[in-house]
Amino acid sequence: MYGLVNQAVEDFVRRGFGDGAWKSIKDNAGVNLEMFVSMDSYPDDVTYKLVGAATEVLGLDAATILEAFGQHWVLYTAQEGYGQMLSMFGSNLEEFLVNLDNLHSHVGLTFPALRPPSFQVERIEGGLGLLLHYHSDRIGLAPMVVGLLKGLGRRFSQEIDVVQVEHRERSGHDVFRIDYVGAGA
Ligand code: HEM
Repeated sequence: MYGLVNQAVEDFVRRGFGDGAWKSIKDNAGVNLEMFVSMDSYPDDVTYKLVGAATEVLGLDAATILEAFGQHWVLYTAQEGYGQMLSMFGSNLEEFLVNLDNLHSHVGLTFPALRPPSFQVERIEGGLGLLLHYHSDRIGLAPMVVGLLKGLGRRFSQEIDVVQVEHRERSGHDVFRIDYVGAGA
């Protein structure tokens, strides 16, 4: 994945757990790069190894780390100069999710080797919520999507509950149910 993602992992660890934790994670993952370059593409294996090493060093399971990282990603991209892009693709959660593929297409203009995920929104009949279908050629990142959705909920001041209702192992792709909570709905 692009260095931007690995940089965000680094930022997430350093801020939440300190520089020592990051050094240990990098060592345990066998990553001996001084820094990541945001526009360079790295093998996915680098990111997966960092997450694997983080489970050992931080004593947390991969799903917990990926979910927290997903939340951090929304803040990190906004802070790293992609805030305007985040604002451009929707003024509320649903609109933004409908536009996510367009957002990644736009990102692909600057990151030409991007292998983006794909999302489709399905309205829940008569309900206050949505189903979000997630397609990716990468495995194991569903918990990150849960965190991303929670981070987006915060960004749009929309309180939500997120539950994964279908799994790619069984259904071919992951599906999340997003329920609006409280007055924002
Ligand atoms: C302006 C903000 C964003 C930027 C710049 C961005 C950019 C990227 C980049 C560079 C990757 C790595 C893919 C690769 O290297 O092939 C990625 C992956 C991903 N992005 Fe975004 N993204 C943004 C917002 C979002 C949001 C809000 C979501 C919410 C669902 C999202 C969902 C994902 C997921 C799940 C992946 C993992 C790759 C996969 O599933 O295969 N992104 N994005």
